Amino acid sequence: MKIVSAQLRNFRNHTDTELEFKTATNVLLGENGQGKTNVLEALSYLCLTKSFYAANDSTVIQQGKEFFDIRGTLLLDLGTELDIRVVYDAALKQRRYFIGQREVETFSSVIGKYPIVILSPENSSITFGTPADRRKFMDLVISQSSKIYIDDMLEYRRTLRQRNKILAEAARKKMFTGGDEISLAPWTESLITRGAKIILKRAQFFKEFSPYVSNAYASIVDINETPMVEYEPQIECSPDDSVAAIEERCRCALEQKRSDEIKTGTTLVGPHRDEVAFSLNGLRLRTFSSQGQHKTFLIGLKIAEFFYLKERCTETPVFLLDDVFSELDERRSTRLVSFIENLAQTFITTTTESVFHNALVWNGEKQKIFIRNGSAVSAKEAAIA
Ligand SMILES: Nc1ncnc2c1ncn2[C@@H]1O[C@H](COP(=O)(O)OP(=O)(O)OP(=O)(O)O)[C@@H](O)[C@H]1O
Ligand SMILES: [Mg+2]
Repeated sequence: MKIVSAQLRNFRNHTDTELEFKTATNVLLGENGQGKTNVLEALSYLCLTKSFYAANDSTVIQQGKEFFDIRGTLLLDLGTELDIRVVYDAALKQRRYFIGQREVETFSSVIGKYPIVILSPENSSITFGTPADRRKFMDLVISQSSKIYIDDMLEYRRTLRQRNKILAEAARKKMFTGGDEISLAPWTESLITRGAKIILKRAQFFKEFSPYVSNAYASIVDINETPMVEYEPQIECSPDDSVAAIEERCRCALEQKRSDEIKTGTTLVGPHRDEVAFSLNGLRLRTFSSQGQHKTFLIGLKIAEFFYLKERCTETPVFLLDDVFSELDERRSTRLVSFIENLAQTFITTTTESVFHNALVWNGEKQKIFIRNGSAVSAKEAAIA
C-alpha cells in the first residue's frame, strides 16, 4: 500500500494543509514545533482510524474548532485507489470513518487492513518502559495480523474489568459471599478460555517473530550484536501446547491465588501479567544497554514488525519514522535510511537534512516536504524562515 495524498483540516496546528506524496520516500523537514509529527499522526488516523499516540480526538482537534476532517487517498498493492475520510464532531464527540462512500461502524475491523509501522519517540518505552509497554507493542503487532486475537483481547479486557469489579467490591466489604461466588464464576471461566487462547497465540507469535528480529538487526548493524526477544508468560506455555492444557494451568493457578485475589481485590492470574524480555548478547537490554543500543534494538523490532506484517497482511505496510535519527550515530542513520527506503513507502520527519547527504539520491520517487507553522511551504519559503 502507498499513501498518495492527504488533506488535513483543523487537525492540530494544520488548518488546511494539502499534501501529495511520492511512492518511495517523503521527508518532512522543519524546525521544532512546526507540525511535522502532526502530519504523521493524521496519516495514522487514516490508516488505523486513530492516533498512534494515546491522544484522543478532543486533543488533536485544533483548539477552538468544531470539527476536524482528514481525507486521504491510498493506493493498494493491486492498484486500486481508495478514498479515506475521518471526521470528528466536537459537539457530538463523535468520530466517523469512511472508506469511499461507506461508513465503517466498527473501527476494530479496520485494524490490519492498511498496515503502518510507526517509529516515534514515544516508542522508547517499548525497550525502556514497563512490562505493560512491551505487552502493548506485542499486542499491536499481533492484532494487525489476526482478527481473532483482537476479538479475544477485547473480550479478555471486558472480562478482566468485570472480574476485578466483583473482587474489588468483595475486598472493600472484607467479605466474599455466596452471591459473589456465583457472579464471579462465569467471568473466571471466560478469563480462562480467552486467556489461554491469548497466551498460546503470544507463544506462537514469538517463535515466528524472533528470526525476523535477528535478520532485521543484522541488516542495520555491522558489528556483532545478537538480539533476543523472549516471551515470559506468567502461566507456563510452549508454542506446541494445546489450548486445553493451558486452560488447565490457568485454572490451577487461579485456585491457588484465590484468597490473595479476594484480599487484594484484583485478578492475579492471566496474560495481563505476562512479560516480554529483550536482550543483547545475552544481557538484559533494560539493565545493560546504551541509549544508542536501545534505539537500534527498537528499530530492529520495527523492521521485524514490517516483514512480519508484510507476509501476513494483504497490503505492504507503510513506514512512519518520527525523529528516528536522534541517538543514532551517522553510520547507523545512513544505513537505516538506505535499508528502509528499499522496502516500502516511507515518511521521515527530521529537523536536519544532513543525515541524507550520503543516504538518499533525490529522484522522482523521493521528495522533501517543508513544514512551517502548520503548513506545507516551498523550499524557498522554508529557507527564509
Ligand atoms: N490541538 C491543537 N491545536 C492547535 N495546535 C496544536 C494542537 N496540538 C498541537 N498543536 C501545535 O502543534 C505544534 C507541534 O507540532 P508537531 O509536534 O507536529 O511539531 P514537530 O514539527 O514534529 O516538532 P519537533 O521537531 O519538535 O518534533 C505545536 O506548536 C503545538 O502547539
Ligand atoms: Mg515531532
